[in-house]
Amino acid sequence: MKIESVVLDQWYPVATENMLVAGKVYHSQLLGQPIEYGLDENATFYATHRTTQAQLPVLMQHYTYWISLGNPPALFSIPEFQDSERRVLATVPVSVRTSGLRVVENFLDMAHFPFIHEGTLGEMPFTAVKPYRVDIENDEIYARDCEFYQPMAAFSHEGGMNIEYIYRVSGPFNAVLYKTCPLQPAKKDIVCLFVQPCEEDRSIVHMPMACLDDSASLEELRLFRQNILGQDIGILNNQVPRKLPLLADFEISTGADAISLAYRRWLNEKGVCYGTFQNA
Ligand SMILES: [Fe+2]
Repeated sequence: MKIESVVLDQWYPVATENMLVAGKVYHSQLLGQPIEYGLDENATFYATHRTTQAQLPVLMQHYTYWISLGNPPALFSIPEFQDSERRVLATVPVSVRTSGLRVVENFLDMAHFPFIHEGTLGEMPFTAVKPYRVDIENDEIYARDCEFYQPMAAFSHEGGMNIEYIYRVSGPFNAVLYKTCPLQPAKKDIVCLFVQPCEEDRSIVHMPMACLDDSASLEELRLFRQNILGQDIGILNNQVPRKLPLLADFEISTGADAISLAYRRWLNEKGVCYGTFQNA
């Protein structure tokens, strides 16, 4: 299968920093190709194509190990990972039977919060998604002024409040969420969604975070987010079709879907085919 360069020439996550044991060799798949990676005896990250034995370009950034099967440009920046005040952690990766593009789209969707994440990210009867602004800047998508009532927006904060979100789609398979930090409302917690497309319809979800909570343990912070991610697995594994349709009229859309429509249009304009559903 010939993969278009807009997909091939990208960095892809294969692990977060907390997941690799030095000296252990890991086998996985990326864009249908068999890969192997790990930390060598000097704790240096490496990756190899298992068929051709070619060394692959590697990168360690945003608490994540990245590799590429092509010629990738510089990775997008997230300066908050350098902020010493923040706690940096990641969920245990989760494998799902769906296109990586579907995973990103689900991450961008606020409308499912009260139904799927009741008690944390949403609560009945607060189901309305207020209008928000979508812009394209430097070839990334930003959704600003997103606001949602959340009964427990973060581990160390019980009691509902309106939480402001900024979504940033930084690449076809990557998104970053900037979310009001209930403990420091002037600042925002960072939750990343970095997707490893193993095959067109199978993905691994990596979720590093940079949070401003210094009262909870890292394990408590991880479990809070891991449980939320766990609630999404059922939706992700049951998408029909598993690949993302890019045709605007294929699925019914409402105003709450402005970011999703912008994402599909942006993928279409970039010429992304891998992981999309072609109706022809
Ligand atoms: Fe969700």
